[in-house]
Parts: sequence; structure tokens; C-alpha cells
Amino acid sequence: MRRQVVWLIALMFALVLSSAESVAQEKSEGKKLYLTYCSGCHGETGKGDGPAAKALPARPANHTDGAVMSQLSDKYLFDIITKGGASAKKSPVMPAWGNLKEKQVREIIEYIRGLASPPKNKAPETR
Ligand code: HEC
Repeated sequence: MRRQVVWLIALMFALVLSSAESVAQEKSEGKKLYLTYCSGCHGETGKGDGPAAKALPARPANHTDGAVMSQLSDKYLFDIITKGGASAKKSPVMPAWGNLKEKQVREIIEYIRGLASPPKNKAPETR
């Protein structure tokens, strides 16, 4: 009986550890994708100050601005990332990333949400 309890606790512990690990992995996946595809314009820290930013006719969005980011729904972010700036009546300088998998786009969204301060609250979305 006692041994079974010990096993049960060990099993629960292992489950918690493995799920925490996969969450961390997903986060770092979003970061990797962001650094590969987005940081050149949006900057490593998401402030819109990547190395290419100065040469562009439109300023890349600042993902750290929580006041702006909180107004944007996940759907809006998903659409502008996959269909490009022009699709959202924004600058076409923001490329369309239609080649990314849906999961990858979600991971990127999760990552840029994490850059915003203050973080997105429950306020109603306006776009
Ligand atoms: C070639 C430079 C460039 C690259 C690369 C780029 N962006 Fe952009 N992005 C822009 C520019 C410029 C804007 C601003 C468009 C405007 O304001 O009209 C923008 C706007 C956005 C917006 C809209 C924000 C808002 O307030 O409406 C999001 C979200 C965004 N980019 C996410 C990304 C993500 C995620 C990636 C990587 C997958 C990425 N961008 C890659 C240049 C770029």
C-alpha cells in the first residue's frame, strides 16, 4: 500500500515536470521563430528597432507597447502575420508569412504577447 502511494506521487511529479518542460519549449520555439523571421525589422526586444527598421518607409510595430498590443485580438495578429500589412490596411512593408505553420504563428503570437507591457488584460478588443 505504502509503496503504491510513493509510486503515485513519483508519477504525478514526473507528469508535472514534463508538462512544465513542454510549455517552456513552446515559449522558446516562439522566440526562435521571432528572432529568425521578425527581429530584423521589429528588433530583438520587439521595440520596432531592428537593424532594417531605419531603411524602411514605415516604422515596424512596437510589440512592447502594451497599450497598443492589448487592443489587438489574436485573430488580428494571426491575420496580419500570415497575410501581411496590406491585408490589414497597413504598410505592405510588413511581409505576409503564409509559409509558416498555424502552430508556429500561434507560438510567435504567444511570444510577442509576452513582450508587451502591461500585458493584455480582459479589456474588450477594438479590432
Ligand atoms: C521587412 C520588415 C518586417 C519584418 C521582417 C516583419 N515585420 Fe511586422 N511590421 C513591419 C512594419 C513596417 C509594420 C508596420 C506597418 C504599419 O504600421 O503600417 C509591421 C507591423 C506588424 C504588426 C502590426 C501591429 C499593429 O499594431 O497593427 C504585427 C503584429 C507584426 N508586424 C508582426 C510581425 C511578426 C510576428 C513578424 C515575423 C513573423 C514580422 N512582423 C516581420 C515590418 C516587418
